[in-house]
Amino acid sequence: MSQDTIAQSIEEALLERFGEQVAVAPDIAGLGELERIAAHRSHRRYLSRAIEPALLRLLCACALSAPSKSDLQQADIVIVNDKDIRKQIVATIPDMPWIEDAPAFLVFVANGERLPLIARERGKPFPNDHLDQFFNATVDSAIVLATFMRAASAVGLGCCPISAIRDHPDVVSDLLQLPNRAIPIAGLCVGWPAQSGSITPRLSLNTTLHVDHYGERDVAAEIDAYDKRRAALRPYDKQRNFPRWGQASFYGWSEDKARQYADPTRTDFGAFARRRGFRLD
Ligand SMILES: Cc1cc2nc3c(=O)[nH]c(=O)nc-3n(C[C@H](O)[C@H](O)[C@H](O)COP(=O)(O)O)c2cc1C
Repeated sequence: MSQDTIAQSIEEALLERFGEQVAVAPDIAGLGELERIAAHRSHRRYLSRAIEPALLRLLCACALSAPSKSDLQQADIVIVNDKDIRKQIVATIPDMPWIEDAPAFLVFVANGERLPLIARERGKPFPNDHLDQFFNATVDSAIVLATFMRAASAVGLGCCPISAIRDHPDVVSDLLQLPNRAIPIAGLCVGWPAQSGSITPRLSLNTTLHVDHYGERDVAAEIDAYDKRRAALRPYDKQRNFPRWGQASFYGWSEDKARQYADPTRTDFGAFARRRGFRLD
């Protein structure tokens, strides 16, 4: 494919994503990589083709090459090969069959165990045991997850992150025998995509991209415009929690997210993180 064609394909993907034009000069380096990133989509249907263990290991090594806050290296990955363990994780998450179907399933872990251990081993105080430690480990883990997805997409694999493993974090942590101060951030289904999938429109760049400062905004109007653009491109096929909220005449992204977060979820996650040894003050 020519540079011009790739540049055009990126522009089309970003137009669909944000509803606005983003210029792509055909002579910049790395257009192939940008094309994959711009065309991102989560994949939930996979071919039955297995993933070579050596390839999975390579992708994990690439992911763990991601930057790390202060070089603290507080992110781990667990490759869940054991069918029994995986079955028990899946059992904690109803309604997501793709977790069972995916040829590979990984868990990304925020690991705050090593830092206080180092302090003890080196005979040093550790006065930084507070929320920032939890945050650092979680951010590192999320960056490793994103880097894994980027590496996977480079070799043609598709992924779907699974935050639902945090619905029963004690069960998952016990099954994976996570040490104290190590908590699961997200699971990840990985496989060879069975469908090409499609682009999910995002909030406009006007809403999420800022220069220097936020300035005056009408966020409600921006969300309203996004709801309409998105509904035209990717309408929801089902309205969430119909018995509680009834049938909306117009059902957009904001109605869906408002309904989703009208039910309490993971209200005990802070208690779980504390139980596992993190201090969150
Ligand atoms: C941290 C994180 C957790 C997610 N958890 C789930 C999940 O539990 N189940 C699921 O089907 N998708 C999950 N997703 C995928 C999102 O639903 C998806 O990214 C979003 O709908 C946008 O679609 P796109 O990735 O195709 O652009 C998660 C994504 C992220 C980044």
